[in-house]
Amino acid sequence: MSVLRSLILSGAESPWLRDRATRIAFVRRSVSRFMPGEAKEDALDAARQLQSRQGLGTIFTHLGENLTSMAEAEAVTAHYLGLIDDIRAAGLNAHASVKLTQLGLDLDTEACVANMARLVERAEQAGNMVWIDMEASPYVDRTLDVFRRLRERTTRVGVCLQAYLRRTAADLDALFDRGAAIRLVKGAYREPPEVAFPRKADVDENYFRLAARFLRPGLPEGAFLGIATHDERLVQRLRVAAGAGGADPRRYEHEMLYGIQRPLQARLAAAGVPLRVLISYGEFWFPWFMRRLAERPANVLFVARSLVRG
Ligand code: FDA
Repeated sequence: MSVLRSLILSGAESPWLRDRATRIAFVRRSVSRFMPGEAKEDALDAARQLQSRQGLGTIFTHLGENLTSMAEAEAVTAHYLGLIDDIRAAGLNAHASVKLTQLGLDLDTEACVANMARLVERAEQAGNMVWIDMEASPYVDRTLDVFRRLRERTTRVGVCLQAYLRRTAADLDALFDRGAAIRLVKGAYREPPEVAFPRKADVDENYFRLAARFLRPGLPEGAFLGIATHDERLVQRLRVAAGAGGADPRRYEHEMLYGIQRPLQARLAAAGVPLRVLISYGEFWFPWFMRRLAERPANVLFVARSLVRG
């Protein structure tokens, strides 16, 4: 991991920096590139436009902080239940994506499972899905346990796996035959080398190998892959693999974050490739924004330019 990336990711964990940075106008301006607004209505408007202009589906994430009480987890759950109702009322092709820590994983696992079950049940009624984000590595076992328990009840739930983790190939082995819905990402947290591949080339290769398992016919019932990367080379390689392998286009989709690689998003959409855009919103965007900066050091220059533009 580069020194700059590591520095930015430690900044993401600093409450001191967060309190100051979120009040500075040029930082707020820079965030707007990746986020249509803090309010749920801003996110819903952006999704309406993506759907009507480009035919794209979306995924919504309400950004949150670490919780201190189950009352806060209840409020987050209520927020997502309302969101699922809004998605349905607006006729959007959209899912919700949640962090289990926001639903109380650190405080009360059973209550967290119950909260997730309520969301998944509501999504089932609305005809869409709920995705579980993957957080830093100490959460992987607990996140996969919760996923398995919910998946026994319904196929309307999916989970994110991170290709930078050494363990992910084994995790996918354990899930694949059960027909799991997986969103594959490279991984966004600061992890030690014994846990995550430090070299980008190894992460990319692992990503390709893991994703390719889904790009062929005859998958187990329910198996689905969200190819969540903006890496154009990897996207291209996987498009070729999907064509050569005879992959069923109903069993995978590309997924990208709002505001990132817009020209690539437009090209895939125009070519009719299944693509969904993840839109984040909410007041607590600081650690999430820092992870976006860490993904691409050129973004730091972009923030600096916003400062100069005043
Ligand atoms: P990579 O970082 O190699 O970037 C490839 C290219 O994409 C770059 O060269 C650049 O052109 C462009 N790019 C990438 N990031 C950019 C940025 N921030 N700004 C501008 N350009 C950028 N992670 C996680 O740990 N847990 C999770 O639950 C999720 N969930 C999730 C959902 C979805 C739908 C997506 C798309 C991503 C996530 N992630 C995530 C984040 C993921 O782990 C990863 O950090 C980012 O997607 C960046 O990695 P890429 O695969 O895009 O490749």
